[in-house]
Amino acid sequence: MTATPSPPSVIVVFPKAETENRWQQALARALAGRAPRLAVRTFHAAGESLRDGPAPEALYAVGWEPPAKFFERNPQLRAFFSAGAGVDHLLRHPGLPPSVTVVRLEDAGMASQMAEYCCHEVFTLFRRYRDYEQQQHNGVWAELRTVRRGDFVIGVFGLGVLGTHVATTLAGFGYSVIGYSRSPRSLPGIECYSGPGQLDTFLGRSRVLILLAPLTAQTENIIDAHALKRLPAGAHVINVARGGLLDEQALLESLDSGHLASARLDVFRTEPLPVGHPFWFHPKIRLTPHVAAMTLLHQSVEQISDKIAALERGDQVTGCIERDRGY
Ligand code: NAP
Ligand code: GLV
Repeated sequence: MTATPSPPSVIVVFPKAETENRWQQALARALAGRAPRLAVRTFHAAGESLRDGPAPEALYAVGWEPPAKFFERNPQLRAFFSAGAGVDHLLRHPGLPPSVTVVRLEDAGMASQMAEYCCHEVFTLFRRYRDYEQQQHNGVWAELRTVRRGDFVIGVFGLGVLGTHVATTLAGFGYSVIGYSRSPRSLPGIECYSGPGQLDTFLGRSRVLILLAPLTAQTENIIDAHALKRLPAGAHVINVARGGLLDEQALLESLDSGHLASARLDVFRTEPLPVGHPFWFHPKIRLTPHVAAMTLLHQSVEQISDKIAALERGDQVTGCIERDRGY
């Protein structure tokens, strides 16, 4: 008996079956009008059917952290759409074939969330809201001095889709904002630095350092003990990029020595942050569980479906990863 070949499809893969189901339904609705020849399946269900049927002809994949055998089971794959802006979860996968185009989310509702998160922290630091909370706790009525706005320089490390939005939003509130990227950038009202030769100068001016670059071979541990020493005394670090950019031990030592004043962390080397990790109860660290900019289902599915339809027509899409630079 010859098996009937499966229709060309999009395969949805997430660590949790429930997430796969939500994405499968949303993608099936969005693609029905854009690329009707494509069926949309979930990896967990397709994995089951492999035991007794032909492998589904998945041409496109959408998801996060595919399991070990994912690429082996989907040999026809042309493109993998990350359900996030970051692609480190894909590029470190040992089975990712060089022929598969990796595409990331571009904003899709994340830039405004990232700006909210970073502005909230910068406002809290600059206006000393935590000191006022402490004063209330102690029944104290007193006006606190703030530094001159021009002296409170905010350094945004990574001037891509998210970093640019964060930098320009903060500049819009009148802060002095500087930026740092791999290649030279030019943004109105923002002094831009680039390349390893300008990193120390950028760090030396950053009273608040916001990390918003991808995790790559070049950025891994880039904020180490040396880099932290370059920051002005009393500086603050906000990490909303990836935990791997920051040397955790060096951060703790810098906070404990009094050189760094505080850290606001959303991302960690190991997530969830392990029980008993020193970050949990450190008095100078405030943390959130990787929520600075969450993937929004509707906007993401719209963006990905438009790109799948474009690829089906033979058109180019934006947001494709350059494998050799790692983002
Ligand atoms: P993007 O548009 O690709 O921008 C990346 C920026 O980082 C670019 O400006 C790039 O420089 C710069 N960069 C890369 N390598 C560098 C290096 N070695 N030295 C200096 N700068 C370097 O990415 P995006 O969409 O803004 O996202 C940035 C990252 O945010 C993601 O990769 C992800 O890890 C993280 N993220 C976190 C959350 C969260 O909830 N915490 C949510 C979404 C994203 P060029 O301008 O020269 O290319
Ligand atoms: C989240 O961290 C993302 O990369 O979108």
